[in-house]
Amino acid sequence: MYDYFLGGKDNFAADREGAEQVIRAFPSTVSAARQNRAFMLRATRYLAAEQGIRQFLDIGTGIPTSPNLHEVAQKIVPSARVVYVDNAPTMPGPTISHPTKFQDLAMQY
Ligand SMILES: C[S@@+](CC[C@H](N)C(=O)[O-])C[C@H]1O[C@@H](n2cnc3c(N)ncnc32)[C@H](O)[C@@H]1O
Repeated sequence: MYDYFLGGKDNFAADREGAEQVIRAFPSTVSAARQNRAFMLRATRYLAAEQGIRQFLDIGTGIPTSPNLHEVAQKIVPSARVVYVDNAPTMPGPTISHPTKFQDLAMQY
């Protein structure tokens, strides 16, 4: 549902139906999800561009939605390293959704 709230395309019909019910009950959900995502991207830009951070650990990655953390960090610091972690066993992993966008990627479940 989170992907749907963000306006993404990596979601299933059941997600969309559930998300629409959530939106009807809590209309601010879409804005909250987008603000959350925007914060993560702003924080990444700040850390890479202004604080010299070169290694990032994204805990609770969720379904990849572009731009993802590594895209933002590596645009500023091409050699930046990113580790994505999520405890959801159903998480498809970034290579499935965006196979060409993830070079140099190792996944472990
Ligand atoms: C809202 S979603 C993704 C948010 C994403 N980081 C963002 O900023 O847009 C939250 C994710 O956190 C994961 N999560 C929740 N608790 C976790 C934990 N203890 N360890 C790892 N991942 C966790 C969930 O599986 C879910 O995919």
